[in-house]
Amino acid sequence: MSPDAIKVWDLPTRLFHWLLASTFAGAWLTGDSERWMVVHTLLGYTFAGLIAFRLVWGFVGGRHARFSSFVRGPGAVKRYLGSLLTREPEHHVGHNPAGGWAVLALLGLGTVTAVAGYATYNDLGGHWVEELHEGAASAMLALVFIHISAVVLSSLVHRENLVRAMITGFKRRRALH
Ligand code: HEM
Repeated sequence: MSPDAIKVWDLPTRLFHWLLASTFAGAWLTGDSERWMVVHTLLGYTFAGLIAFRLVWGFVGGRHARFSSFVRGPGAVKRYLGSLLTREPEHHVGHNPAGGWAVLALLGLGTVTAVAGYATYNDLGGHWVEELHEGAASAMLALVFIHISAVVLSSLVHRENLVRAMITGFKRRRALH
C-alpha cells in the first residue's frame, strides 16, 4: 500500500453503496412485470432499509460518511466546479462539494421512490402515487447516469481510480494534477 494512502470509506458505507446499486438495478429490471412483483417488492424493502441506514450513518458513521463533512454551501460548489477548468482542480479526500449534493439528491429521490412504492403496492393513495413512484425512479436513474459520468470524469481529472476506492476504502491523501 502506498504511504500516501488514506482510509476514506468505512466498510458499512462501501457495503451500503454496492448493495444500493444492486438493489436499485434489480428493482428497475423487475418493476414492469407482474411475474417478478414479489422480487421487486423484496428488493424495494431492502433498498428502503439501506437508505434508512445511510441517513442514520450520515450522523453517526465514520468521518467521511458524515453529512457534516461533505454538505457544503452553493459558494463551495461553484468554486469546485470552476476549479475543474483550471490547471489545479480542487482535490477533496471525501466527497467533493458537488458530489455531496449528488449524494443528498440520490438519498432524497431514493426515499420518495421507496415510500411511494410502498403506498402503490398497498393501495394507499390513488393513481398519482404510482405516477410519483415511477417518476422518482426515472429521475433517480437519470441521476445515476450523471453520477457515474461524474465519477469517471473526476477519476480522470484527479488521476485516481474512484471506483476502486469505493471497493477498497482507500484514496490518495494528496492530489495529482
Ligand atoms: C456501476 C455503477 C456505479 C459506480 C461505478 C459508482 C461509483 C461510485 C463512487 C466511486 C462513489 C464515491 C464518489 C466519491 O469518491 O466521492 C459513489 C458514491 C455514491 N454512489 Fe455510486 N456508483 C454506481 C452506482 C450507483 C447507484 C446505482 C446508486 C444509487 C442507486 C449510487 C449511489 C451512490 C451514493 C448514494 C453514493 C454516496 C456514498 C456514501 O457516501 O454513502 N451509485 N459511487
